[in-house]
Amino acid sequence: MSVTLVPSLPTRSGAAPAPSRSLDVLGVPGEINLDYAASAPCARAAADAVTELLPWYASVHRGAGALSRHCTLAYERARQTVGDFFGARAEDHVVFTRNTTDALNLLARALPAGTTVVTFAGEHHANLLPWPRGSVRLPVPADPAGAVRDLAAALTELRRDSNAALPVLVAVTGASNVTGERWPVAELARVAHRHGARIALDAAQLAPHAPVDLLALDVDYLAVSGHKLYAPFGAGVLIGRADWLDPAPPYLAGGGATSHVGPATHDVTWATGPARHEGGTPNLVGAVALAAVCTALAEADRAGLAAGEQALLARLRTGLAALPHVVELRTFGPDAPRVGIVSFVVAGRDSAEVAAHLAAEHRIGVRDGLFCAHPLARRLLTEAAGRTGRRDLPPTALRASIGLGSTTAEVDRLLAALAALG
Ligand SMILES: Cc1ncc(COP(=O)(O)O)c(C=O)c1O
Repeated sequence: MSVTLVPSLPTRSGAAPAPSRSLDVLGVPGEINLDYAASAPCARAAADAVTELLPWYASVHRGAGALSRHCTLAYERARQTVGDFFGARAEDHVVFTRNTTDALNLLARALPAGTTVVTFAGEHHANLLPWPRGSVRLPVPADPAGAVRDLAAALTELRRDSNAALPVLVAVTGASNVTGERWPVAELARVAHRHGARIALDAAQLAPHAPVDLLALDVDYLAVSGHKLYAPFGAGVLIGRADWLDPAPPYLAGGGATSHVGPATHDVTWATGPARHEGGTPNLVGAVALAAVCTALAEADRAGLAAGEQALLARLRTGLAALPHVVELRTFGPDAPRVGIVSFVVAGRDSAEVAAHLAAEHRIGVRDGLFCAHPLARRLLTEAAGRTGRRDLPPTALRASIGLGSTTAEVDRLLAALAALG
C-alpha cells in the first residue's frame, strides 16, 4: 500500500486519543430496521470518531495550519487502517471513493486498452453497468461449483479466441445483495489467475458480514461502501494493483490530482498514487468513519458475531418457510452459505404495498423492488413461480436484511406481521 505510516494524532491536551471501538449501532427506539443491505445503521465507533474529529475539521493536503495538518494525518491514517483491514499488499493503492459504484466506475476507467471484463448476470448493477462494450456476461450458475466451472470454460474460450496478451478482468460479488448467497471468491480467483486474468471483488455485501482479505482471497481489486459497513458519511474505497491505476487517466481531473500544471492548456503532469484518482477536496469525515469501523471490527470476535447472525438468519428463513403464502428467492439452493439477507414474495400481494404496510402498521423497514439487480431478481422471480407452481406471485420482491444489533424480537415481529397477511 502506497502510504507512509503516520504517528498517532495529537489531541488538544497533547495525548493520543483512545479510539472508540464500540460496535453498538445507533437507531431510533421502536423503529425496526431490517434493511441493512441498503444502508446499515451507524456504528457508535464511527459516530464517536467523527465527533472527536469535528472540532479539528479543516482542509486535507491543502493547509499549513495545525488543524489542516491534523486532518491530513487523520486522512492518511484512515487510508492505512482501511488498507490493513482489507489485507492490502504493500504495492496496492487504497483510493477513497464515494461508494462501491464509484470504486467500480473508477476501475472501469483505469482498465488498460483492450481489456475484456467477465461478469455473471447475478451481479448488482454497480458491477454490470460500468464495464466497457465487449464485456462478457455469463449466465447465473445453478450453484457455486457451477460458477467456477463456467468461468473456467469462458476464460479458456476467450483466451483461444483472442490475443492471449490482452488483459482480462473477472468482476464478481462476494455475496448477493438479492439472496445473500456467498460466491466462491477464492476459487474464482484461482481460475482467473490460472488463465492470466485479474479479478475484482465487489465486497459491498460481504464485508459487513465476514472478514474480507485481499491477500488471503488473492483478489486483485476490492470495492466497498462505508455506508453498508456501519460507517455513513459517504466514503467507499477501491483497493488494488497500482500498475493499472497509475497510468490511467485521472478519475477526476482537478486540484490534488496533479503534480505540475503549466501555462499551456494540456501542460499537466498527473500525480501517481491514490491522489491521481482523488481529485478535489477529499471526504475526510467519511474516511475517518470507515477507518473507525475497520478498527472496531478488527478487534471484534467476528466468528462470534457471524454465529449470532447465522442463528438469527436461520430463525428468519425457517419462519418464512413456515408461511404458506411466502416464497423465498434463491439462486443456489436452500443450504448454500449466505449472509444475513433474504428476499421473498408474499403470494397475491404487491410487494410495494406490503413494504408500505409493514412500515405504517408495524414500524418495520424492509426494501422492495428489484434491488438494483434487475436481471437476477427477474430470473429468481420466474424461478420461484416455477418451483412453487404458483401463478399469483408479484413481479417485484421484498428483502429483509440484518446485521449488528439485529434482534430475535425484530425478526419475530416481521414474521408475525407477514403471517397476518396470509
Ligand atoms: C453487491 C452490491 N454491489 C454494489 C452496490 C452498490 O453500492 P453503493 O450504492 O454503495 O455504491 C450494492 C448496493 O446495494 C450492492 O449490494
